[in-house]
Amino acid sequence: MISLKIYIDSADLDEIKKAYEWGIADGVTTNPSLLKKAVGKRADINMKKYIIDILKTAEGTPVSLEVTTETSKEMIAEGKKLYELFNPVAGNVVIKIPVNPAYTDADKTHFDGIKTIKALSTEGIPVNTTLIFTPEQALLAAKAGARYVSPFAGRVDDLIRKNSGMSFGKDDYYPHDGKTKDGVVQDDTGVVSGIDLVSQCVDILRYYGLETEVLAASLRNPRQVRDAALVGADIATLPFPVIADMLKHKKTYEGMEAFKKDIVDEYARL
Ligand code: G3P
Repeated sequence: MISLKIYIDSADLDEIKKAYEWGIADGVTTNPSLLKKAVGKRADINMKKYIIDILKTAEGTPVSLEVTTETSKEMIAEGKKLYELFNPVAGNVVIKIPVNPAYTDADKTHFDGIKTIKALSTEGIPVNTTLIFTPEQALLAAKAGARYVSPFAGRVDDLIRKNSGMSFGKDDYYPHDGKTKDGVVQDDTGVVSGIDLVSQCVDILRYYGLETEVLAASLRNPRQVRDAALVGADIATLPFPVIADMLKHKKTYEGMEAFKKDIVDEYARL
């Protein structure tokens, strides 16, 4: 059966363990800042042992570990090192590479992400391509052999809201079909929302039969998760609080209250 896979976007072992215990996690995505923060809270364990614990907890499902370097030479070496060091633990390491590690249009490193994806994929190392903001970036990453592309939905919404001068909360829901200002639908490079970016990536990769999976990232609220599922994303990677929010509804609480009262009265007569 195919369904939306849910990855946990966290390096917090407690959160990861809970998500696996409850059967709702199909993978983990980490990044160096998340790992640093999580390990920093623990005096009893170093980074290497901590990553090993995550890999064992997630055994049988993919765990993305991100590189910290910026040129293809460095990223290939770091990706291989991480894979060789950690993949033997549970055989589930995926290396996370930025699609383009440049800082400005003038930089000379625009192809370094693509070169790294090609080199690692050719050696059988699965790559999750991060920081995807256009469908064209996703297409190039897929052609270079990436196993996953990660469009950053929430950050696209941030950008459109900022460029159009809309005031917004980071976690506010932004509609899939975009918002208008002075009668014009706001966009970034023809993408009208973060979910529209996910949707365009899905459509293009499927249209051409590319096997790369679309991993919707930077999702910040349950409606975005629903939209990601509705547009056919393969995977949604979610921070733990977003997973918790997916269960919340005030009518569920009201229903529980009424149910509890009825049952207590009924059982009192047994
Ligand atoms: O998976 C990507 C995620 O960690 C970034 O999320 O909310 O900082 O855009 P955010």
